[in-house]
Amino acid sequence: MAMVGEEKAGGSRSKVLVIGATGRFGQELVKASLAAGHPTYALVREPTFSRADASLLLRSFSASGVTLLKGSLQDFPSLLEALKQVDVVICAVPSSQVLEQKLLIRAIKQAGCIERFIPSEFGADPDKVQTVEMDHDFYKKKAEIRRCIEKEGIPHTYISCNFFQRYLLPSLIQPGLKTPPTDKVKIFGSGNVKAVFVKESDVATFTICAIDDTRTLNKVLYLRPSGNAYSQNELTEIWEVKMGKKLEKIHVTEEQLLKSIHETPFPSNIDLFFIYSAFVKGDHTYFSIDSSGLDGSELYPHVRCTTVSEFLDMLSERTSI
Ligand SMILES: NC(=O)c1ccc[n+]([C@@H]2O[C@H](COP(=O)([O-])OP(=O)(O)OC[C@H]3O[C@@H](n4cnc5c(N)ncnc54)[C@H](OP(=O)(O)O)[C@@H]3O)[C@@H](O)[C@H]2O)c1
Repeated sequence: MAMVGEEKAGGSRSKVLVIGATGRFGQELVKASLAAGHPTYALVREPTFSRADASLLLRSFSASGVTLLKGSLQDFPSLLEALKQVDVVICAVPSSQVLEQKLLIRAIKQAGCIERFIPSEFGADPDKVQTVEMDHDFYKKKAEIRRCIEKEGIPHTYISCNFFQRYLLPSLIQPGLKTPPTDKVKIFGSGNVKAVFVKESDVATFTICAIDDTRTLNKVLYLRPSGNAYSQNELTEIWEVKMGKKLEKIHVTEEQLLKSIHETPFPSNIDLFFIYSAFVKGDHTYFSIDSSGLDGSELYPHVRCTTVSEFLDMLSERTSI
């Protein structure tokens, strides 16, 4: 396998299969793969071809040179057939379906030709989060998939990108709101714990950088760009400067937040849970990257990330303040 930026022997780029290509994040993976010049394949479920909202997207994929393959995670022969045509598999099915990757892992093992598998994670590191008893197995399932991959000896990279910018940041971490607050803001815990928000297209670019890079083989790629890691107090201050106005702070203690998480039925409490994990426990940033991981910004300094401040600029243009 070639180092990053190099081509494979014979002058060709690795062939990339995206599973979940019609999803919000999957689309970004397809774009990033094409932009880097990889022959790109998408595994698409049969009914999706005739779904009105997907057919336009699939037509645009085809026009851009994407090879569309019929199949699904539940259909072993379709997986095997697709895998035989590619070198790299990236899975972007929703977190609720991560265990369905077990059949894919069996197919990858049987196909024997896959040089890198990127499983559907794209969040906090499931082996590092400190809140596993509270999340209805959200991270346990992702960790279980890691163990299956490792047991089968499948070459892999795990992408630990923390939060997407589309998650929680549009409301400035205010559960229940869709836009940032203009008068009062809830601050959870001390407000000083940093969490990380990376734009999905940037996560996709980092992912594609990693697939042919020998340095990321069997490692976790952590994304923590410096312009993307902020505490709630810092985020509030940035927003106040952009608005030219101070917000009233409502402090929610760790105990009050935990009480709300326990009193709110699952899955309605999931935003509160992620706030607790990231902004109280510090699950994105509490640990240093050890020998099992690498820092994406150090490996790929050429990837220019949309910063949190730039994202908030975009929000302030849309918010009448
Ligand atoms: N860090 C964060 O803040 C954050 C936030 C959200 C998501 N994520 C992560 O991003 C990844 C993708 O999430 P998303 O929100 O982009 O997902 P999504 O929009 O719900 O898309 C899911 C995709 O999976 C496909 N799919 C579902 N079941 C399948 C099956 N059995 N066989 C083949 N394809 C199947 C869907 O295809 P159809 O079109 O056929 O339905 C669709 O393309 C996940 O790893 C998730 O954990 C991270």
